[in-house]
Amino acid sequence: MALAQPDLQLNQAIKDHTWLHFTQMKNVIDDPSPMVIARGEGSTVWDTRGKAYIDGLAGLFCVNVGYGRQEIIDAITEQLHKISYVSPFSYPNEPAIELAAKLASMSPVGKDARVFFVTGGSEAVESALKIAKQYQRLRGFEGRYKTISRRSAYHGTTMGALSVGGLTGIRKAYEPLVPGARHVPIPHRYRCDYCAAMQDCSGQCTREIENLIEFEDPATIAATIMEPVQNSGGCIVPPMTYYPEVRRLTRENGIVMIMDEVICGFGRTGKMFGTEHWGVQPDMMTLAKGLTSAYYPLGAVIISKEIADTFIGAESQKLLHGITFGGHPVAAAAALANLAIIEREHLVEQAAEKGEYLKAELHKALDHHPSIGDIRGAGLFVGLEFVTDKETRQPMEGGPMMGWLSDQLLARGLICRCDDRLDPVIQLSPPLVITKEEIDRIVATIQEVVGALEEELHM
Ligand SMILES: Cc1ncc(COP(=O)(O)O)c(C=O)c1O
Repeated sequence: MALAQPDLQLNQAIKDHTWLHFTQMKNVIDDPSPMVIARGEGSTVWDTRGKAYIDGLAGLFCVNVGYGRQEIIDAITEQLHKISYVSPFSYPNEPAIELAAKLASMSPVGKDARVFFVTGGSEAVESALKIAKQYQRLRGFEGRYKTISRRSAYHGTTMGALSVGGLTGIRKAYEPLVPGARHVPIPHRYRCDYCAAMQDCSGQCTREIENLIEFEDPATIAATIMEPVQNSGGCIVPPMTYYPEVRRLTRENGIVMIMDEVICGFGRTGKMFGTEHWGVQPDMMTLAKGLTSAYYPLGAVIISKEIADTFIGAESQKLLHGITFGGHPVAAAAALANLAIIEREHLVEQAAEKGEYLKAELHKALDHHPSIGDIRGAGLFVGLEFVTDKETRQPMEGGPMMGWLSDQLLARGLICRCDDRLDPVIQLSPPLVITKEEIDRIVATIQEVVGALEEELHM
């Protein structure tokens, strides 16, 4: 079918001028009709040709309340009419003040916490790391500049966030990175080098942290940063003993504990914040994505009173850090409207309940398939890992297979993430408003594609 004129123009502009993130543009340039998403409603998006897809990834783990929410659009418009910008270097703005108080009241950091706004996840991580390092200096620990984070983790792309990230593939081109970033193994029950084959976690992954702290000298370490349920590697849920032990180690050694809630925050894992599953109180949390359900860019760091108070006093104590669009009033208004929806529609509880349903249905549909080694996750944040042998857990080769899988799913109207940054997985993270009927369609589509994959591979 010949393309309509506007599509031809759009395609030419994509070929000539567009640059997608983390994407080899040659693949897009060589595609005769690259997919352009034009419209969304609830959990469905439509491309420019009118084909509908279930958005099983909520954009990029962010459109928690679904597309087309008039209430958020109205809040944005109303705020634009009132005032479209206020400088965060000079004045607080009304919606950001209200939002800061709201976030403090909700978060496990503490009701007396202070909130520093930015525009996204990388900036939130960058800011949290700078606050932790300056805090350590302000309280007299000049030498505490190191950080502890996890291998294979993703915390964003700015230089500080990239340094605490553990994906070697995306670090190499930009080295040397920020000095002092140390990395520990992931608490990954299915693939743990120490105890995957054992019934219970041996606790070796937290002993690794303890050993590293001792090896590096606690007086050199500023902070730990970890994502409650780790996205990269496929929705990896640490054992229940893990974060309480990290909390003990950080507290005993004067280390700031930062939880990166950029994906897990705002209901994704079936709790308002992922950290709540482990019942610990971190010193800081980084937020973005679901904070506005991506209706407007916004990120935040929630900082404990103890840390924030260290910055309050003399001119020399102030935080020397800021961003023009941090805490933009329109973004804050969007966030307030978004949080009102999450609370009123009980989307956190819904994520917990529908997440259980999704996992149960995936187990029913896929457990007998030889290529599916593991189905895991929390709430509506679920990963399926591919293997060539269920017994030995031999991982399937990723690479071109991931593109093939993605194309097969897209052809059947499902967007989700096929990722092989660790071992190959499909990840699901749909809007929290997804219906059970849509979940059934997701499961049926994945089952069909897994069957097609096994046929291709003669499994
Ligand atoms: C856990 C985590 N932290 C930080 C980031 C960076 O966020 P952004 O892409 O908004 O800079 C991401 C992005 O996916 C993330 O998943």
